[in-house]
Amino acid sequence: MVAFSFVGSIALLASVAAASPFPAEAHDLMARQEQMPGECTDYCSVSAGCVCITRPTNCVATYIVQAGESCGSVVDHFNNFTATDLYKWNPEIGRECFGLRAYVPVCIGVTGYTYPGPVKGGDVATPEELPVPLMYGITKDCTKYGFIDEHGSPTLPTLREANGISKQQWNTWNIPCRDSNEEWSAWAGYWNCIESPLPATDGTCPEESA
Ligand SMILES: *[C@@H]1O[C@H](CO)[C@@H](O)[C@H](O)[C@H]1NC(C)=O
Repeated sequence: MVAFSFVGSIALLASVAAASPFPAEAHDLMARQEQMPGECTDYCSVSAGCVCITRPTNCVATYIVQAGESCGSVVDHFNNFTATDLYKWNPEIGRECFGLRAYVPVCIGVTGYTYPGPVKGGDVATPEELPVPLMYGITKDCTKYGFIDEHGSPTLPTLREANGISKQQWNTWNIPCRDSNEEWSAWAGYWNCIESPLPATDGTCPEESA
């Protein structure tokens, strides 16, 4: 269960903007349907203020995000596109979806799009498949992702066992700078890392303490 939402969080939006979430790598790897303009366009409203947004020029439908919504709730509401598509059509929301903003329209369909069906608990994805949303803080060095659905299925121990990884490995890749011998939780409705060349550590991050 995702117990919180960062819709409207200015501090987090700033970090998303700095991370440049535009999914350029997707374009060569997948048949590209969305046609993205090179620059963002100002969207202004009384509720949202002014934000510069990038939307596909072939977008066929938009939806105004409501307060308290997450990528998961928007995807579940329509059930006709994936969170990865939502990110590709609205790149500033970022891979973690923290850039989703209340009262700002998101593109929810482009011409020629075919829905691949919903993502299910236990699904795995490669980096090239651009899984979205990612758990915040997940290692960039991830070679395989696993999905835990909004009901918490499969459980984290089940997912680890199915992929032959230890608690310490999972913690090192997903909950950085925390004691990796603890039983941390995965975020329900998010993708987490289940394969990485990074060796398991005890979780200490000396460079972070400076
Ligand atoms: C999803 O459903 C909404 C509402 O019916 C529609 O406006 C939108 O175009 C659909 N998107 C896709 C990708 O089919």
